[in-house]
Amino acid sequence: SAAEKGGHDYFMLKEIEEQPEALENTLRGHFSGGGIVLDEQRMTEQDLRDIDKVFVVACGTAYHSGLLAKYAIEHWCRIPVEVELASEFRYRDPVLGRDTLVVAISQSGETADTLEAVRHARTQRARVLAICNTNGAQIPRESDAVLYTHAGPEIGVAATKTFLAQITANYLVGLALAQARGTKYSDEVAREFEELAAMPQAVRQTLSTVDQVRTLGRELADSKAVLFLGRHVGYPVALEGALKLKELAYMHAEGFAAGELKHGPIALIEDRLPVVVVMPSAKGRALLHSKMLSNIREIQARGARTIVIAEEGDEAVRPFADELIEIPAVATLLQPLVSTVPLQVLAAEIARARGYDVDKPRNLAKSVTVE
Ligand code: AGP
Repeated sequence: SAAEKGGHDYFMLKEIEEQPEALENTLRGHFSGGGIVLDEQRMTEQDLRDIDKVFVVACGTAYHSGLLAKYAIEHWCRIPVEVELASEFRYRDPVLGRDTLVVAISQSGETADTLEAVRHARTQRARVLAICNTNGAQIPRESDAVLYTHAGPEIGVAATKTFLAQITANYLVGLALAQARGTKYSDEVAREFEELAAMPQAVRQTLSTVDQVRTLGRELADSKAVLFLGRHVGYPVALEGALKLKELAYMHAEGFAAGELKHGPIALIEDRLPVVVVMPSAKGRALLHSKMLSNIREIQARGARTIVIAEEGDEAVRPFADELIEIPAVATLLQPLVSTVPLQVLAAEIARARGYDVDKPRNLAKSVTVE
């Protein structure tokens, strides 16, 4: 009923709007006594200090959150991180040992591919930390440690609030590792956590774009395809935006690293093709910002319809944006927590305008328990 959906047309929109609260719940209790506490985990500070390699394994949206973990953990901890689709991991004979941390990310905690990756890692004596949204699910049960995301139940088959919660949990793991290892960022853990703690409010602010994006979604409903471009942490966001659109609107969608454009994808650009661009911050990432401006110029010159997600006050991008969606300015690594929101709304609204069931897309199950 409409009441269950909080007055919305579909659960997914309710869950998109629940994201600020979900993040508050993910963060709750994880900062105390001046540092990060991963209280639900059974790994000691010493265990964390010994880690010399991190693998992240996951599927679908959870995998996209894992790609972001790489940017944060390598930057904060100086430990190499590999992110792998769970379905590829164990068949590849990955190099694992006692000092390898395998982070298995799964909303449901029941995904067969991810569970098998966990089992494989444990046979190789790696330590496994699960990031999960479902209490007592199989993946956390078979892992050495677990960090629950506490985003609350998600009814929509397409992941929304659990994605933002996974990113947040990944970052908590990164900060805990930096702290335990005493990297140069260990002194800044408190400040980084404060920035994370400000994200629920930033996401709330981003929700003010919902009406604009829903209108845009209706305009784009007849498109044949949509491309998504991003750089740095905007790249996994582009992949996630494309996945959402495939899942919900059954539309051809692809996410690219913007730097790859001229290595192939630019050939796809044709008149009126919608291209969604996730802009890095002009202040925080000036170099990437200017590279992205030239990418937008290139695709606009070839007739693309540019839909640009950019930080408020980014005047330089305005002339290149056929549609400008403004998000609040936040720290670079945290931008995905706000830039993803309009992409979720866009996919849902295109799907609705095409007459599809947003909460139950065809052929998909909420958790995939067969390999
Ligand atoms: C997300 O919109 C999808 N439903 C799907 O990609 C999902 O993220 C994937 O199947 C992994 O699920 P899990 O997080 O429950 O392991």
